[in-house]
This record gives sequence, C-alpha cells and structure tokens, in this order.
Amino acid sequence: MASSAAGCVVIVGSGVIGRSWAMLFASGGFQVKLYDIEQQQIRNALENIRKEMKLLEQAGALKGSLSAEEQLSLISGCPNIQEAVEGAMHIQECVPEDLELKKKIFAQLDSIVDDRVILSSSTSCLMPSKLFVGLVHVKQCIVAHPVNPPYYIPLVELVPHPETAPATVDRTHALMKKIGQCPMRVQKEVAGFVLNRLQYAIISEAWRLVEEGIVSPSDLDLVMSEGLGMRYAFIGPLETMHLNAEGMLSYCDRYSEGMKHVLKTFGPIPEFSRATAEKVNQDMCVKVPDDPEHLAARRQWRDECLMRLAKLKSQVQPQ
Ligand code: NAI
Repeated sequence: MASSAAGCVVIVGSGVIGRSWAMLFASGGFQVKLYDIEQQQIRNALENIRKEMKLLEQAGALKGSLSAEEQLSLISGCPNIQEAVEGAMHIQECVPEDLELKKKIFAQLDSIVDDRVILSSSTSCLMPSKLFVGLVHVKQCIVAHPVNPPYYIPLVELVPHPETAPATVDRTHALMKKIGQCPMRVQKEVAGFVLNRLQYAIISEAWRLVEEGIVSPSDLDLVMSEGLGMRYAFIGPLETMHLNAEGMLSYCDRYSEGMKHVLKTFGPIPEFSRATAEKVNQDMCVKVPDDPEHLAARRQWRDECLMRLAKLKSQVQPQ
C-alpha cells in the first residue's frame, strides 16, 4: 500500500487533533507517520483511529474512496522523529498549545528537513511571526488551523508568516482540498485569526445580553441553533446581506444606518465574571449536566449531527 500512496505526511503529536489529521490524510490516500514524545500516545492513537474508521465505514460516513482497511494500512507509528520525516512532503505539528514547546519542535524540524517539505502548525492562536521566528526554512512554514472536530468540520485557516513563500500557501491549499477539507487564506496574521475573531464577537454579545438580563442563556443559544445557524451552515454573513436585499449595495443603502444605530449600543468587553458564569452554567446543566458522561454523550450527539449535516451539504453543494 505504502508504495502506491499519494505521498508521505508526518503528524507530530498524536492527541485529539493529530489523530483527526491522520484520518483525513489517509482518506486522501497519503501515507501517514504518527510521531509522539509518548510511545503510549502513538499506540492509543492507532487503536482509536482503527475503531473510529470501522464505525465510520459502518455508518457509510468514511471519507475518501479507499476502504477502512486500506486507509488503516497507510497509517503507522514512528517513535523516531528523524526517521519519520525522511521523504515527507508535509509535516503537521499537533503538540499542546505552548509557544516554547512548539518553537522547540520547529527548531528541531528545521535542522533535519530538506528545502521541499512543508512545516505546518495546527495552532489555534499562536502567531506565525512568533512561532517560526529565526527558522532557516521559514519560507516553508505555515499555520493550518483546523476546527474541532476536523473530520466533520472541513474549514482550515491558512495563516502565513510574513516570509512564507506564496508557493507554500498554494501547496498547502491544494493539499487541504485533496483531503476534502475547505482551506481559506488569511492574508496577514492577526490575533485569533478569522474564525476565533468571529466566534469571540458572538460570544461577547451573547454574554452581554445574558448579563443584562435581556435573554436567558438557553434562549440565547436558540437564536443561533434555530435561527442564524440554520443559514450559516450554507451561506456566510456577507452573502446573507447580499441575499436579504437586492444585492449588497441595496442592503447597505437600506440597512447600514439601522445597523450602526444598534452597533453603537454594544457594551464593552465582558469580564466573564464568576457570577455570570455560574448563572449560565446552571442553565446549561439543565440540558447537559457538566459531568464527564453527560458531556461525552452530548459531544457524540453533536458529532453525529455534524456528520449528517456534512452528508447533506455534499448533496446540495457537490465539490
Ligand atoms: P492533545 O493534548 O490532545 O495532544 C497533544 C499531543 O502532543 C499529546 O499526544 C502529547 O503527548 C504530544 N506531545 C507533547 N509534547 C510533545 C513533543 N515534544 N513531541 C511530540 N509530541 C508531543 O492536544 P490537541 O487538542 O490535539 O491540540 C494540538 C494542537 O491543535 C494545539 O496547538 C491546539 O491549539 C490545536 N487545536 C486544537 C483544537 C481542539 O479543539 N482540540 C482545535 C484546533 C486546533
């Protein structure tokens, strides 16, 4: 199998995100080598991936055109990082979110890789200018930030270092498409990238509305799950504007004054006080008690919903 693979990808860090990447790359026919500082983590990852892939296959939700066994035969563990990266075309770093740890890993990779391989980080919020500072192979470095759970949510934010070569962005973009993900380009690094900036804007206003007693926490969530989220699964906020009038210009003519009027009433950044957190938690726990079993069951339900939504989207928006 390995010899007919599309190329070799190395995963550094075999935790939650590393495992998802491994499954996605295998679904695209790539040979995957899993590396981790903890040998047990590699064993756990291989076992967990096997279970997951079998379940996905039974549910008819396995990605790619290969069977679960064929995909599994592409994934192997490798306890030695130098051996793992030999001949690799792409290295996806997935170690914990700690700048010094990640810098250490990239410095180590920088000293052993060639001029062709792409060095990619899964970081959620560390800036490429901090992460890749001083590396000889900085032109080959990029952030490819997935969204959890990556197997069901295809977006990947690509964030370059100021010195990243355009070819690195293009190659990573093409690779993400090849494994069925949906890459988008962040042109310049910014705190929170784009996804978390939007997410935090929503969280801020949600928190203010609850704190001011305007809406209960569970009703607030309904506005998203039964309202805005229904269309956001298919079209973004800008296209929503475009469609909600006779195009974007007409929307702005009609609604910009009203939007500015409302936006001026937004409050400051919330403190996320303990008192409000407890109030919100109480309401959340009515539906999902915050013990590990209930949380895990609800996450599993969420993932099943996302899997069905992904199927629906592939029917209405063939790629
Ligand atoms: P995790 O804690 O599940 O896995 C991290 C893995 O890295 C562990 O297996 C650990 O043994 C290994 N590790 C630690 N030090 C290492 C070293 N020196 N060399 C090799 N392996 C080492 O973490 P998770 O959640 O998978 O996150 C990984 C990265 O992905 C983080 O940067 C995180 O911000 C990012 N991310 C996480 C998301 C999430 O929801 N979990 C979503 C998107 C990105």
